[in-house]
Amino acid sequence: MKYIVQTNIEELTSCNVVLFPVFEDQKIESELKTLGSLGHYREKIMNTIKLEEFKGKKMERLLVYTEHEQCPRIMLVGLGKEKEYSVKKFRECVGAACVQAQNKKWTHLSVVLTAALRKKEALTELASLVVRITKISTYAYDEHKSDVDARVIPLESVEFVGKFTATEKKNLEKGIEHGDHVAEGVNFARQLGNTPPSHMNPEYLGREALALARKNPSLKVSVLSEKEIAKLGMGCLLGVGQGSKHEPKFIIIEYWGAPKKQKPSVIVGKGITFDSGGLSLKPGAYMMDMKYDMLGAAAVFGAIKAVADLKLKKNVIALVPSAENMPSGTAFRPDDILTAMNGKTVEIKNTDAEGRLVLADALVYAKKYEPLEVIDLATLTGACMAALGTERSGIFSPIDKLSDEVVQAGESVGEGLWRLPLGEEYSEAMKSEVADIKNLGGVGGDPYGGASTAAAFLQFFTEYPWAHIDLASAILMSKSKPWLRPGANGFGVETLVAYLSK
Ligand code: BES
Ligand code: MG
Ligand code: ZN
Repeated sequence: MKYIVQTNIEELTSCNVVLFPVFEDQKIESELKTLGSLGHYREKIMNTIKLEEFKGKKMERLLVYTEHEQCPRIMLVGLGKEKEYSVKKFRECVGAACVQAQNKKWTHLSVVLTAALRKKEALTELASLVVRITKISTYAYDEHKSDVDARVIPLESVEFVGKFTATEKKNLEKGIEHGDHVAEGVNFARQLGNTPPSHMNPEYLGREALALARKNPSLKVSVLSEKEIAKLGMGCLLGVGQGSKHEPKFIIIEYWGAPKKQKPSVIVGKGITFDSGGLSLKPGAYMMDMKYDMLGAAAVFGAIKAVADLKLKKNVIALVPSAENMPSGTAFRPDDILTAMNGKTVEIKNTDAEGRLVLADALVYAKKYEPLEVIDLATLTGACMAALGTERSGIFSPIDKLSDEVVQAGESVGEGLWRLPLGEEYSEAMKSEVADIKNLGGVGGDPYGGASTAAAFLQFFTEYPWAHIDLASAILMSKSKPWLRPGANGFGVETLVAYLSK
């Protein structure tokens, strides 16, 4: 996709539709002046607004047709009340407009960066945001449709319209580049997440990491084999993987963007390429969408790709323990006792609580980097989804500052996070009669507090500043939203990039 900055609407090159974002009841007459010769249609625009009683409410949209050669349509995009502006709402409103345009096969878009919007976001940030919206909302996973005509047509160009000085133009271009790198990271994560388990397995994920390093030489990748995993003593990852014909892998992606003496931030992603539940088999309805059980891994892949492309002056390490959780004659069993890399023994109560097991070994491994902090992302519990719904993810951390800063980073990009508790009662619930800890426990009954007991399990393996994100909002994305096509949504990539960019 091409991005072009236009300081003069007359230079628009064959644009199919101009998106014109407006707040509810915003006076737009003066804003229409940015439209240059399109401003001739001011009266028509104002009349149509009146006749259609367009108010600019959230998700409201209005098309006005012009006879202008380069630009036959203007779409007014309602943003809701100015006072209630949020990045999330802006993304949804403009994203829905992009999807509508794309469905109409209008692949050349222009977006007006109005004065009202520029009061909300600095120009660089605004440009980055709009690039991310256009790219993320119009991504589709349809490569397996053999009827090519049934596939979505990619956007070809986005032009930014407004009155910009030379410096502003520079800032815009900086924002465009930023947004492009971040959106590429997000869509890469979604692409991995959407890939069906007939294709996606730990080895595939490893190959994707190696391909990433080939394209970006500042990334250093190692993919550890089952043998190497065994040698390191990662008994929990090994146990989860032993029922599948695909061997588990442990994937390490290193990005040293600062002097090595600076402590790295480590990001860890759960990479279960399919979660059948194992011998504690999931019922059919619950097994649907379990290809998405590697969305934590996908998020850290996308984030470290973006971090490298943005050339951040930071050290960042991505760790992905990857396995396929399958029932078979060689599968691990309930009642088994596995030994993690740090020697802690784990009684298996339920083979479907496998995410915490593979993460345990990765969290122990992270220690060797003497990390500044470790943030893990995992589609860990249905309980987190029960608690928060599918719009927000849960965050757990013993450290207020770390938790607050990650929540704030999420807010800045429109990804919702909500802090949930860790605590002694949850940790106590995970103690085992026959081993050090067990992989299933509850407070007041086995199913209760499931998101917190899972987090408390992970905490046993952390000896550094740590936060855990339970990706409730990245799952059950089979249905589309008006601003996002169906499938993986890439949740977490932008939060991580925003956090790591501080
Ligand atoms: N991958 C699941 C969690 C999950 C559930 C993700 C629904 C997306 C949607 C995880 O491995 C799992 O099976 N968790 C169990 C834990 C239970 C056995 C303690 C769960 O949440 O039911
Ligand atoms: Mg499971
Ligand atoms: Zn799982």
